[in-house]
Amino acid sequence: MSKLERFLESLYKKYRTLNSGKLASYIPQLANANPDWFAITVVTTDGKVFTVGDSQENFTIQSISKVFLHGMALEDCGRAALLEKVGVEPTGDPFDSVIRLDENSKRPDNPMVNAGAIATTSLIKGNELTERLNRMLEMFRRYINRDVFIDVSVFMSERATGHRNRALANLLLNFGTIDHNIEEILDLYFQQCSLVVNCQDLAMMAATLANRGIQPITNQQAVQSEYVRDMLSVMHTCGMYNYAGEWAYRVGIPAKSGVSGGIIGVIPERAGIAVFSPLIDQQGNSVRGLRVFEDLSQEFGFHLLDVSMGKCNFADCLESD
Ligand code: DON
Repeated sequence: MSKLERFLESLYKKYRTLNSGKLASYIPQLANANPDWFAITVVTTDGKVFTVGDSQENFTIQSISKVFLHGMALEDCGRAALLEKVGVEPTGDPFDSVIRLDENSKRPDNPMVNAGAIATTSLIKGNELTERLNRMLEMFRRYINRDVFIDVSVFMSERATGHRNRALANLLLNFGTIDHNIEEILDLYFQQCSLVVNCQDLAMMAATLANRGIQPITNQQAVQSEYVRDMLSVMHTCGMYNYAGEWAYRVGIPAKSGVSGGIIGVIPERAGIAVFSPLIDQQGNSVRGLRVFEDLSQEFGFHLLDVSMGKCNFADCLESD
């Protein structure tokens, strides 16, 4: 067994009884999750998979999709056009906040909050909704390397209850930041959140970003490598919402969370990590996920700015002894 496998096992045992946090319930379908689900997966940039727990359990990706739609919007309209519509500034506010979306800026602060994600979603090219949806699914397929689908009941649940998102879209329409059918844009936004994934898929997606946009198994370019820098920078500063500063300080790697309990983290040139546990805190981040990432970062020296202890030789930790 490798050092990494041993450590993953120990983290699983250490945190599986940590039961603070709550299931997300503002989207009614998410409250059906099993609070005991727990998985940790690491995928290296050369495609090795290390995993413990319920790594094949399906759940909806939720806000982690925002990272990948950001990449797609960059490819579809380029950096300059995207920056005109959506900034790259962390908000320090909850992910669904309306507060900073004002008449002066007319643009959401960043693509990781809901307002920004709705704006990036409006930039996805395609003649009608079906074409945009199919392009989006094809994009996710490149990262996950299997057929992908939408959980229709979660999609319907989000669509029926997403009043704040509808308010954000209406404000963006009023400002002229988005200029076409908001119900179609919202559908595509709710559909991306309702993509079905498991923990291993998420780690593979993170590993693809760690590998300059090249999927480690297929060697296919999932996203143009020139845009991976943009995606990771925005994850680093904005991916954990109003916990982003704390996360950058404690864990120190680009990451993104979702209210269904997933968190992905990217260690450039080395690996992608995903944790899944549906009990979330007030900021919308998985409680066990935060602890697992903190311990992993500490143990393997993943913090990108930590030069004090030198980098451990991660490759050695992957070898069985
Ligand atoms: O817009 C929403 O409310 C959800 N579909 C996505 C929320 C989410 O995951 C935010 N993250 N923590």
